[in-house]
Amino acid sequence: MIKQISGGFIIEAGNSTMLLEVNEVQKPVLAYYGPKMKEPESLTAFKTPYGTAMGTATLYDEKKAPTLTLDQLNLEISTPYKGDYGSPSLLLEGQSSPVYDFVYQSFEIRKPEPLPELPSPHDAEEELVLKLADPAQKVEAELHYLTYKDSGVIGRYLKITNQGEPLDIRKAMSLQIILDGEGFELVNFYGTWSGEFQKDITPLNHLRYSFDSTTGSSSARHNPYFIIKKKETSYQAGGCYGFNLVYSGNHYEEVEYSSFDKLRVQTGISPLGFKKTLQKGESFVTPLAVLTFSDQGLNGLIHVMHDFVNAHVVPQEFAYKARPVVFNNWEGTFMKFNERKLHSLVRKAAAIGAECFVLDDGWFGKRNNDKAGLGDWTVNKRKLPHGIKGLCSYVHKKGMKFGLWFEPEMVNPDSDLFRAHPEYAIQDGIHQPCLARNQLTLDLTKPEVRTYIIDAVEAVLKSAPIDFVKWDYNRNMSDIPMNSGTFFHDYILGLYQVVGKITSDFPKILFENCASGGNRCDLGMLSYFAQTWVSDDTDSFERAKIQDGMVLGYPLSVMSNHVSAKISNQMLRKTSFDSKFDVACLGILGYELDLGSLSKKELSNFKQQIAFYKAHREVCQFGTYEQISTLEDSSFSTKEAHNAKEAVVSRTVGICRPVPSQESLFAIGLDPNADYHYAIRREDLDLRRFGTIVNYVLPIHLKEEGALISFIAKFKSMPCETLEGDMSGAGLMGGGLKFPMLWNGTGYSDKVSFMGDFGSRLYLLSRK
Ligand code: DGJ
Repeated sequence: MIKQISGGFIIEAGNSTMLLEVNEVQKPVLAYYGPKMKEPESLTAFKTPYGTAMGTATLYDEKKAPTLTLDQLNLEISTPYKGDYGSPSLLLEGQSSPVYDFVYQSFEIRKPEPLPELPSPHDAEEELVLKLADPAQKVEAELHYLTYKDSGVIGRYLKITNQGEPLDIRKAMSLQIILDGEGFELVNFYGTWSGEFQKDITPLNHLRYSFDSTTGSSSARHNPYFIIKKKETSYQAGGCYGFNLVYSGNHYEEVEYSSFDKLRVQTGISPLGFKKTLQKGESFVTPLAVLTFSDQGLNGLIHVMHDFVNAHVVPQEFAYKARPVVFNNWEGTFMKFNERKLHSLVRKAAAIGAECFVLDDGWFGKRNNDKAGLGDWTVNKRKLPHGIKGLCSYVHKKGMKFGLWFEPEMVNPDSDLFRAHPEYAIQDGIHQPCLARNQLTLDLTKPEVRTYIIDAVEAVLKSAPIDFVKWDYNRNMSDIPMNSGTFFHDYILGLYQVVGKITSDFPKILFENCASGGNRCDLGMLSYFAQTWVSDDTDSFERAKIQDGMVLGYPLSVMSNHVSAKISNQMLRKTSFDSKFDVACLGILGYELDLGSLSKKELSNFKQQIAFYKAHREVCQFGTYEQISTLEDSSFSTKEAHNAKEAVVSRTVGICRPVPSQESLFAIGLDPNADYHYAIRREDLDLRRFGTIVNYVLPIHLKEEGALISFIAKFKSMPCETLEGDMSGAGLMGGGLKFPMLWNGTGYSDKVSFMGDFGSRLYLLSRK
């Protein structure tokens, strides 16, 4: 609900209320943003009391407000040189004066309009436009606030229109909000290839903190999602604010406590390499920022963000639609495959219950390694004599959907495309461009390049009934050309044109976003592609940490997770297939390894895993997520997804201790008065993990790493602990269910849990 009230405006979103005041000097300021409240009659009680003009205060307008200084206001937009000495959210450079002073003119509450050229979440309900202007400079600024049906999220963007002499925009943040209160902390997500979404928590002081991406994409270096929370806020309780951008390019975030202990928060396009010139009559619209408030701790924030992405961000065609269990050949074959090998994988994937077979990199041009072929989207007939159509039909006959990998924004210098059109690649024209993974980025600011990509990809998609596309993007930008001053932004607008066209021409195809894993995981890409490959790191322990970070802002239904070989390619750390499953199953489950090298026992285990997942897919993909403990505050990362019917709890341990403590389950969100049946998902433990201890119980002697134990291990395994029974929801939430004690070196039975370092378990709580 958005309404004008005396002195300003009220915006209600979910369980939060925002009050905006237009003050006596016509500046829009934030009067309140927090728990939902009864509509106030006026904003008088919420006004900042500027009792005296303190010391060096610069008085904005002595006549109208003798003690008012901009420095003390919770300004919704800030420009320098008028007494606000914090970081400006808008920086303009014109012909005459550097001073820009925007004051309120009028407002409009309207039916929301989509942002031009940029992704806009669907089902927006209402939009408030605060129209400001600097009449002396002849520049207008509009602050847009949007609400969404049944959502606690508020959208926010800025539009600048020049009615005077040409001017340059040097910085234009989508959002500035100034929060009152001491003791805030910043939670942000940094990372790299194979180590995305690492969580940092920084107590804020009076320094200016900023983070950004300057790689050309939103990047794994810093995700645009971040949280401001009170020091005492936990997952279960306390106040916190979440912020994100619906944007896939370079971004910039800044937080700063002023001397008056007001926390200024900004997010928007990175100012690096950004200079947007506006001629008379021209406008610029920033990407949309989204924000939310929770007084129910971080889990409360998670619920609002997850619902928002599920209901308003991902393409409507796929909203709340079950995602298939994928088998992807990448880590199983890399680019070394032929039709025979693929057919054999298809049969095995179908036999374990996979629902979609995805052919990854290496099917086109002269793509036998990563040095050649990118850009040439015609099938390699030596590898696939019956083409994509032939393989697609083979996969369909085996009862699965068919998916195909593309990396359309890239080109290898060793490709027909580059030989014909070197000018399609991003280069500055005077330096030798840097290669990354032997490739260059295509210049999507050029219309002819966009047309090439659309035509090339659509030709393949038309050639066979393809159901799924994995869209990859494997390098950061360099060597950008000299042009409009908004190269990075124009690239992203070009990308949105390309993916907008292809996804609307093929609305039934499920697209998976990928960028060397999670190097472009953001709400912009998710507006076109309904799911995203989280990380190339499929080591179960690293992956648990990555997912624990990502899930704070992105729902399970977009997180594509694969079970891969036991020894992970990325860590060379060995964890069991079951640990990998226990971690992968909260999200979209997939498999990515050479099924041909597995034993019957292992394949049958996969079959059971997939059957379990299918039986509980609804809760694994769309259940309400609760983080129960994290590896920072406990030895375990424990999380749960629940719906009215059931809950799935996944638990991963770090390094085990010799004398482990007794742990209990503290489930969240169950019906306290209902009865539940709880059961561990039974796993088989590899005999070899018990080392020489097996000799205590066997009549024969086995060498620790001998051939005999390896042979026996193919057929014989050890059962994991048992845990099954009935308990009320209240009991399960109150710590009534005690987990079996972890292995401590003195005896193994069904009451001892041998998880081992980096191990996991899964529990099902079914309402009776
Ligand atoms: C990077 C992706 O993250 C991988 O899953 C795989 O698709 C490779 N690219 C293929 O080149």
